[in-house]
Amino acid sequence: MKIALGVSGGIAAYKSAEIVRLLQDRGIRVQVVMTRAAQEFVRPLTFAALSGEKVITDLFGSDDAQANVESAIEHIAIAQTIDALLVAPATADVLAKFAQGIANDFLSTLYLATTAPIVVAPAMNVNMWNHAATQANLETLRKRGVRIVEPGTGYLACGMTGAGRLAENETIVAEVLAALGAAQDLAGETVLITAGPTREKIDPVRYLTNRSSGRMGYALAEAALRRGARVLLISGPTSITPPGAAELTQVETAEEMRVAVLKLFPESTVVIKTAAVADFRPKATATQKIKRKGPMTLELEPTPDILAELARQKKSQIVVGFAAETENILENARKKLSSKSLDAIVVNDVSREGVGFDSDRNAVTIISHDEVIEVPETSKWEVAQHVLDQVVKLRKQATIPA
Ligand code: PMT
Repeated sequence: MKIALGVSGGIAAYKSAEIVRLLQDRGIRVQVVMTRAAQEFVRPLTFAALSGEKVITDLFGSDDAQANVESAIEHIAIAQTIDALLVAPATADVLAKFAQGIANDFLSTLYLATTAPIVVAPAMNVNMWNHAATQANLETLRKRGVRIVEPGTGYLACGMTGAGRLAENETIVAEVLAALGAAQDLAGETVLITAGPTREKIDPVRYLTNRSSGRMGYALAEAALRRGARVLLISGPTSITPPGAAELTQVETAEEMRVAVLKLFPESTVVIKTAAVADFRPKATATQKIKRKGPMTLELEPTPDILAELARQKKSQIVVGFAAETENILENARKKLSSKSLDAIVVNDVSREGVGFDSDRNAVTIISHDEVIEVPETSKWEVAQHVLDQVVKLRKQATIPA
């Protein structure tokens, strides 16, 4: 087991030396990465001596271009080999870079390049901690599944008293161990996830679509990656950024989604159909823009039911559907569970304000053939974790001989 320990520039940087030892005591190898500012507080030699590994101090450390290219490639390779990234102490600057996706030094590049679980232990002045910008950055990171070890309250190095003191080292290490434990339960699985809406063309300028933002599906994709899965993400048009490590197929129409899903289905072990696929499409697409000449009638036909086709081709895969309902929620979901031959269905009441479509939050009921799990309103990230917990359980049941 190997983790990268990012040390950024705060007075608490010296405390990270003990974190190296605590992790090594648990049999974990530690690769230390220091920002330039961290090196003003503690010498890299201290961490090199403690960790027994060369400390990474920058992305480009040499005047020689070839050496820099080799170093960048070698350093990025580290992103693929670590089991977790811990940043302690994490300054306000590091949190802001992570939240915004700025990659201008080794640590921020590693954050973007790795799919391993991430733990950050912030430490800073109380006013910086309480600032709306810092809190907004933390919220962004939390939503992406980054584990935050909250700082303690007390006397701070700046002379003020309040929140901002680096959490106790034992607390930080416990969080890393929890992240490592949670990371592996989808390793070896190939999870196919559909996300977002579809668009069905009426004419060259108009289409039928729905309110899906893709957030629920992308949260599932990110969560499955963090738990060790290979993720095949088939997405309708969205304005949000997909997780970098997901293998992305972009589609527009229900028919394109059908083709992509059927192509990737044989290599998948789990399918989660979060996408809000259009149920109807115009029977014919006009080749020219339809003129406004009084009332018009649009003739619609049903789109192919992708889940029904999967049911016919299904071998050992676990197939999970989502159901967007506005009435008789549980009854309708149960009907879909059996009519679409699903292993589980995740139903959300899309008539409720603030959850479901185009929101960061959701409230769902996960129904399988022998269990009903209520997930009260929470972030889509948390909902994704509950869905994946159920997937892991169903996979275990499917592989244990009766
Ligand atoms: O994208 P967000 O803004 O985050 O919103 C998330 C969500 C509300 C879209 C999501 O949580 C959700 O409920 N997704 C399912 C939407 C939907 O299409 O529900 P449905 O009850 O109409 O369909 C049931 C299932 O059949 C779905 O898994 C759907 O992907 C599938 N289906 C639907 C039509 C079709 N032609 N083929 C299908 O396979």
